[in-house]
Amino acid sequence: MNRQQLRKSLLAQRQALSPQQREDAALQVLTHLQQLPELEHACNIGSYHSVRAELPTAQLNKALQAQGHQLALPVLHPVRPNHLLFLRVSETTVWRPNIYGIPEPVLACTDILPLAQLQILLVPLVGFDLEGNRLGMGGGFYDRTLAAWHAGRLPHLQPIGLAFDCQQVEVLPHAAWDVPLPRVITPAKLWDFRN
Ligand SMILES: Nc1ncnc2c1ncn2[C@@H]1O[C@H](COP(=O)(O)OP(=O)(O)O)[C@@H](O)[C@H]1O
Ligand SMILES: [Mg+2]
Repeated sequence: MNRQQLRKSLLAQRQALSPQQREDAALQVLTHLQQLPELEHACNIGSYHSVRAELPTAQLNKALQAQGHQLALPVLHPVRPNHLLFLRVSETTVWRPNIYGIPEPVLACTDILPLAQLQILLVPLVGFDLEGNRLGMGGGFYDRTLAAWHAGRLPHLQPIGLAFDCQQVEVLPHAAWDVPLPRVITPAKLWDFRN
């Protein structure tokens, strides 16, 4: 299967989960995340606002905030096409749907948290394989976001993919620009692809 066919098939599997299965999965993923020792020292955490059949992040985000972490959520970059910016969010954040219908915090420059200030970045995905290769929605947003990290320029950032178990495949086709994830959390376990 090519990327497009794989994406379609993986999206269908994710779509087939019931709302209860989704919420259970999100809770299990949160439990694994909270067991990471580095979470304790993660002051700023990049997360995402789940849409459609993505692993739900509402509860997870709330729990992280309640534990004192500063969350930063992505907005489409106003000037650089297909790039993301991460903005500090709180209970008073004003949200607005972007062109893809994904709610994002209203852009205020003072709220920008550069990637260099994030310790953990939670990454949505459509599929991942046993080497950490990641398939996204096809926009390449996270490949661009993680390019500097992949080049070794953000040594303090720890990207972690969040997914359902049905999103794991043996091998994904990947291109030169694809950035593999070092770790992925699913309900079953924490997948570590480093070394
Ligand atoms: N770092 C990058 N710089 C420039 N273009 C990129 C970069 N990463 C991805 N792209 C472009 O984004 C497009 C979508 O990437 P793809 O990997 O298919 O999406 P996704 O990772 O969301 O599944 C590709 O056509 C690719 O050319
Ligand atoms: Mg990609």
